[in-house]
Amino acid sequence: MAAEIPSFTLNDGTKMPSIGLGCWMGTPGGDERVYNMCLNAIKAGYRHFDTAAGYGNEAQVGKAIRDSGIPRNEFYLTTKLGNPDHGRVKEAFEESLKNLNTEYVDLYLMHWPQAGKPDSEQAWGDAVFRPSESPTFVETWKDMEKLLNGGKVKSIGVSNFSIKNLEILLPHCTVAPVTNQVEMHPCLPQNDLKAYCESKGIILTAYSPLGQPAGPDQPISLFNNDIVKKLASKLNVDVAQVLISWGVQRKTVVIPKTENQQRMASNITLVQLLPEDMKILDDLHLQPGMHCTLCFSAKADSGRIFGWTFDELGFPEHLYRTKF
Ligand SMILES: NC(=O)c1ccc[n+]([C@@H]2O[C@H](COP(=O)([O-])OP(=O)(O)OC[C@H]3O[C@@H](n4cnc5c(N)ncnc54)[C@H](OP(=O)(O)O)[C@@H]3O)[C@@H](O)[C@H]2O)c1
Repeated sequence: MAAEIPSFTLNDGTKMPSIGLGCWMGTPGGDERVYNMCLNAIKAGYRHFDTAAGYGNEAQVGKAIRDSGIPRNEFYLTTKLGNPDHGRVKEAFEESLKNLNTEYVDLYLMHWPQAGKPDSEQAWGDAVFRPSESPTFVETWKDMEKLLNGGKVKSIGVSNFSIKNLEILLPHCTVAPVTNQVEMHPCLPQNDLKAYCESKGIILTAYSPLGQPAGPDQPISLFNNDIVKKLASKLNVDVAQVLISWGVQRKTVVIPKTENQQRMASNITLVQLLPEDMKILDDLHLQPGMHCTLCFSAKADSGRIFGWTFDELGFPEHLYRTKF
């Protein structure tokens, strides 16, 4: 049975379940682990899955959905266009569809605004086109819009877009992105981006909504934070439930990843947060040293993320200058 969680209506009239299972396994692939994770999640009531060509596991996600025996139209399935594929949107989309072995995807996202050089040794490395070089993200978006005519994708959106880059993109859109998927949790609440996107009818989707707690060298962990722990204990739920409920209550879609069946069940069980509870989490980033990315990103040290500078991405660099 599907979990009882709200869905949000997107700007194209489609509906997106407010919680989905993140399928990034930390490194590309995952094989049986991903298949089992998705099958268990379906049993736990998940009907929304977030994968990407770059995760190398579309086949396992698609197979779990098919093997569940539940009709395809009861699922919400997202995949993403890889950076090296900006110059070949149609082909890359067809490859994803083939890997997923499904008739359509619900949502196709541009994973990052930067186009990777397809022939470079490291497809997801620093070999990228500069923002003004072709294929620009505007050109890529125009090719994504064309996919909507084929009926094999219901909605299109973006990921890792800043206000700066949305300001460049949106005037060229015939179809606006339905969502912008970005890192978001109480340490990086994205308040300005959220207000901007809402003013344009774009819902934010929160990736790494738990702040990727597994990293052993994580200097800041929401799971070790006394303020968050105290709130969770007052509500008699676990920290992840508090973080996920905060995300859904502020009308953002949340896509936590877990392979653990117990956590799967609790992550999709929402708790009602009172306005004062919401404020505790809203204000957490105001504590000294708490306003920052929690994603382990070695790239940040080089002053670039997948080849673009923070200025090119429109990301405030100081938030990414943590002691990773
Ligand atoms: N668009 C992008 O560029 C982008 C970037 C990053 C991520 N994403 C998407 O967002 C999804 C989620 O982000 P993420 O995987 O980076 O981080 P996350 O969901 O914040 O954290 C995942 C980690 O939290 C652990 N976890 C999950 N539930 C827990 C709980 N209740 N208690 C304690 N630990 C828990 C998981 O371990 P166990 O599995 O052992 O439970 C896993 O190690 C990804 O899977 C991917 O789909 C997108």
